[in-house]
Amino acid sequence: MKLKSLFIAFLVGLPCMAQQSGLDIQHLSETHSLVRVQEAKKYLLLPIEEKAPEATVNVLKNMKPDQTFTARLAINKIDYYVPFELDAYKGHSVILDIHNIADRAQTRTAQTDVCWNEIKLTNEFDTTNRETYRPRYHFTPLYGWMNDPNGMVYKDGEWHLFYQYNPYASVWGNMNWGHAVTKDLVHWEHLPVAIAPDGLGTVFSGSCVVDKDNTAGFGKNAIIAIYTSAGRSQTQSLAYSTDNGRTFTKYAGNPILTSDVMDFRDPNMFWNERIQKWNLILAAGQEMRIYSSPNLKDWKEESRFGLGYGAHGGVWECPDLFELPVEGTSEKKWVLVCNLNPGGPFGGSATQYFVGDFDGYKFTCESKPSTCKWMDYGKDHYATVSFSNAPDNRRVVLAWMSNWEYATSVPTQQYRSSNSVPRDLALYMKDGEHYLTVKPSVEMLSVRGAAVSKKVGNLAGSKLLKNILVGKDDAAELTLSFEPSTAKLFGVELSNDRGEKVVLTYDLAKLQVSVDRMQSGQSNFSASFATVTSAPIEKQDVYQLRLFLDRCSLEAFDGEGHFVMTNLLFPNEPYQHVRVFSQNGKTKVGAVTVYEIK
Ligand code: FRU
Repeated sequence: MKLKSLFIAFLVGLPCMAQQSGLDIQHLSETHSLVRVQEAKKYLLLPIEEKAPEATVNVLKNMKPDQTFTARLAINKIDYYVPFELDAYKGHSVILDIHNIADRAQTRTAQTDVCWNEIKLTNEFDTTNRETYRPRYHFTPLYGWMNDPNGMVYKDGEWHLFYQYNPYASVWGNMNWGHAVTKDLVHWEHLPVAIAPDGLGTVFSGSCVVDKDNTAGFGKNAIIAIYTSAGRSQTQSLAYSTDNGRTFTKYAGNPILTSDVMDFRDPNMFWNERIQKWNLILAAGQEMRIYSSPNLKDWKEESRFGLGYGAHGGVWECPDLFELPVEGTSEKKWVLVCNLNPGGPFGGSATQYFVGDFDGYKFTCESKPSTCKWMDYGKDHYATVSFSNAPDNRRVVLAWMSNWEYATSVPTQQYRSSNSVPRDLALYMKDGEHYLTVKPSVEMLSVRGAAVSKKVGNLAGSKLLKNILVGKDDAAELTLSFEPSTAKLFGVELSNDRGEKVVLTYDLAKLQVSVDRMQSGQSNFSASFATVTSAPIEKQDVYQLRLFLDRCSLEAFDGEGHFVMTNLLFPNEPYQHVRVFSQNGKTKVGAVTVYEIK
């Protein structure tokens, strides 16, 4: 036996002890360590190395298994710390029983990992922003990973956002429902995790309703959540809250809906006046299943929709189903939202929808099966669902502003992912078909600050509005319009002095508008980030644009709500300049107005 292996065998043979203040760390084998917490503090800070494989952490409370999560405990270097909360263990013995999976063990001996020297007890966890790209006015978790918006519901003046959340790393894993509330859809208050994993599994996406008539028996106006328990199979579970979402109790009869389909998830429910029952729609592989229930607990399958309809380049996920008015008529139609990953028009994730009729039992699509309708024509718009119980018959949606192609490797670390600005939906009719109008919610006007307007007028060529974005704290709203006279190509470009730019171009020959982020800034984190996305447009006299720029995103809305394009951008310096251009002819450009964000 070589000297080095002899030495390791010796270390492993004797349980090896390391001392951190208030902690007793024992290495029982190369792949198995115990951390005993011996001092009452608020948090145990876990050192994380994002590229390290996941270790399994079993938390023992008075020697009994209490919970299990995974953590990428640092092997060579510490990227950041995440807190493990100890409050719930006050007055009890706590041991973290940590197992490293096989490939972790193959590369090293566990006790030499840097994490053991740096793991520590503390009463503070600093969530002050450390990220250049953290948006100014889009929702982000304080730290850790976020994907889909979940359980969005309005109640008593508060809009609740729950979301897919990993508190132990800024990459996907350990799904919990994070929670935040807002009174104005823009300024959010962060609340503790609302629903945490249990023996049935981690907590995947789902929805919430207000049970106004106490149909479920948990109290009048209780908030009822139904989510996917992702264990060995995917099943649906119920939890309820009688304190406005501050705490949830899991229903003892969980799971309430099971199936032997592997992908069976993301339940979305609503009260249906027509049948005087609840409906629920969920994604099952390549189709949606529709159920009904008198009490939110007992569900009967009514029908299925989707095989052969729309895009099927990936798994169907995160459905929604609601009725919307058709603009300018007294008519209403039903919209079935279907998020799809991969298989989006520009690769990866995207949100498609179907318009038709729904009688409480069956959805009938108005279009040919081959028709595809997209809610957003950018690359970073996914898992979009709407708020339940919104006031004034509004249908407000939020999207997760990322794409599974690169969501876990975008250049932030303290947190990953933000949501889109809130949008209000309605329908309009074109060529015998209904399409969504998607407009920024009226609340976005409330963050409009001071404005600078620059007149442009008739343009043949281009005009640079130098430094018009400077001093706007890397975030702004821009409005402008184009009235083409002879030009077929015109648009607007945002750029910085390093030559990084994002370009929006109207092409009337092709009847499309595109957003080019090929040279927008950092993109080497993923080969599929540098892209041009495009949307169809209609012939119009004036093309109105409303652009929401934040530190790492651009959402471009047209004035009619007929297209929106949501794209992430990571410029190495904030964009400073705006250039408007018109090629091969003239375009009248209305004043370019740049608003600060309050
Ligand atoms: C969509 C999704 C859902 C699932 C959740 C898990 O992004 O895959 O289908 O419930 O994320 O985090």
